[in-house]
Amino acid sequence: MTIGIAADHGGYELKEIIHPFLISLGYTVKDFGAFQLDNNDDYPDFVIPLAKAIVSKEVDRAIAICGSGVGASIAANKISGVRAALINDHFSAHQGVEDDDMNMLCLGGRVTGYMAAQELIVAFLNARFTGAERHLRRLQKVHLLEK
Ligand code: RB5
Repeated sequence: MTIGIAADHGGYELKEIIHPFLISLGYTVKDFGAFQLDNNDDYPDFVIPLAKAIVSKEVDRAIAICGSGVGASIAANKISGVRAALINDHFSAHQGVEDDDMNMLCLGGRVTGYMAAQELIVAFLNARFTGAERHLRRLQKVHLLEK
């Protein structure tokens, strides 16, 4: 599984920690930047290319990090086919995939500590969409809004 990651300055430090963590778990990682800490950079410049990579299937899952995770999730969800959410708890990290087919995990680099972030990431990456009829029905209603 190839995992795409991206962060602005607010998430840069956490991204630099989770990158080797993902490799240690055996994932292939594609990093969409930022590649250096620049307090003037803007999260859409990194999150949107990552979001497009999800849609094109260049990556299988995505993790986007800004200071709070809010801006990253707002920006990513502008791209049709992206189902991104800001996650702070273990239940939502896996249930968001199982029920809602979440394909991008958004984290707050200034909010979530790196050990908690690692647990959220593991829950997200190990989860699979159930494909249950009721969830497909709900997602179809969301999908119609993208047209
Ligand atoms: C950057 O200072 C900060 O606003 C950004 O990383 C993010 O938290 C936005 O939601």
